[in-house]
Amino acid sequence: MPDGKTLFEKAARGIRTERTPVWVMRQAGRYLPEYRALRKTVDFLTATKTPEIAAQITLQPIDRFELDAAILFADIMTPLEGMGVPIRFAPGPIIESPIRSQKDVDGLRPLDPDEGVPFVLDALSIVRSELPKDRSLIAFAGAPFTLFCYLVQGGGSKDFMDARSFLRGDPEASDALLNLLGKSMIHYLRAQARAGADALMLFDSWVGLLDEKLYRARIQPVMKNIIQEVKAEIDRPIIYFANGGSALLEAASEIGADVIAVDWTRPLHEAVARLGSSTVLQGNLDPSALFASRDELGQEIDKVLESGMGAAAHIFNLGHGIHRTTDPDQLGFLVDRVHETSERLSSDREG
Ligand code: CP3
Repeated sequence: MPDGKTLFEKAARGIRTERTPVWVMRQAGRYLPEYRALRKTVDFLTATKTPEIAAQITLQPIDRFELDAAILFADIMTPLEGMGVPIRFAPGPIIESPIRSQKDVDGLRPLDPDEGVPFVLDALSIVRSELPKDRSLIAFAGAPFTLFCYLVQGGGSKDFMDARSFLRGDPEASDALLNLLGKSMIHYLRAQARAGADALMLFDSWVGLLDEKLYRARIQPVMKNIIQEVKAEIDRPIIYFANGGSALLEAASEIGADVIAVDWTRPLHEAVARLGSSTVLQGNLDPSALFASRDELGQEIDKVLESGMGAAAHIFNLGHGIHRTTDPDQLGFLVDRVHETSERLSSDREG
């Protein structure tokens, strides 16, 4: 790493590398026996709020596999308590008093990261000091629409109908909420970068519920503003994951993020064809492929890597979080296969 940039950071900035960097969403979590063992002694919320424990969990997958990046162990809902919203996890997030009116929005405050999430910032600096220099540290935030979904609905849902009807039924109050979340996530992402994060990721897990017209009118401006305001202060690559957003792929790629993370519902070569060869892509193996035979899994991995060669650069990942019943050895196989195949594809390309 003589020029001071990791493989992951080069790819995130559109530079082709000698092999494709790899990490997986939810890599710090329940499919790992060492995570489950630790969670027997501490509940999820306490784990996220105790910097030494959050740092230890973040590093667990790095100790086991040759991954190119660590992602901080936290949750997209973690900063919301600092805005005045109490949250429980069972195991998904639950909000006892959902936000459903202008009055509710007025009761929230913008996030001050030093006061609201000091434990996240401390965890990041511990991880950065313990993480090998050739691995990158990713910090993240929930995108405003996805946070809005949980805040208005009060918890998980298949279709977030209460949230989507609030978005349409009270545009003033819902825009006020989206903007407040946007402003708070700008402060959160900047603070995480200052605390040691090398890259930032925005998770828009539920944005695929919106049609393109509504996305462009109500969500895209908030997203553009986040990227612009974060970039005005700190120079870190930003990844945008618009899950379920194959209908929104072009609109998502216009917000100014460095990397577009793609879910598994469409083949990666389609994203290359639609967004063009100057876009950097992350993704997008179906997490269920980790349950296939090694033969089939290997072929699926190779297919994603071959498609990724058409992008400006590619970061290998799953198209959604790794499932909690996954055999960790399958992830070990995946990482080795990504290394082997992508080294071969890259040298073929050079030669
Ligand atoms: O390795 C990593 O990716 C880092 C940690 C991480 C967690 N949540 C830990 C977690 C990240 C990046 C998240 C993001 C997150 N959280 C998202 C966006 C990504 C996605 O999956 O779409 C969303 C929508 C949430 C909200 C959330 N938190 C849900 C729906 C759940 C329940 C999930 C489940 O699998 O049952 C959580 C809890 C949560 N967040 C757990 C973990 C490890 C499980 C807690 C436990 O019981 O140990």
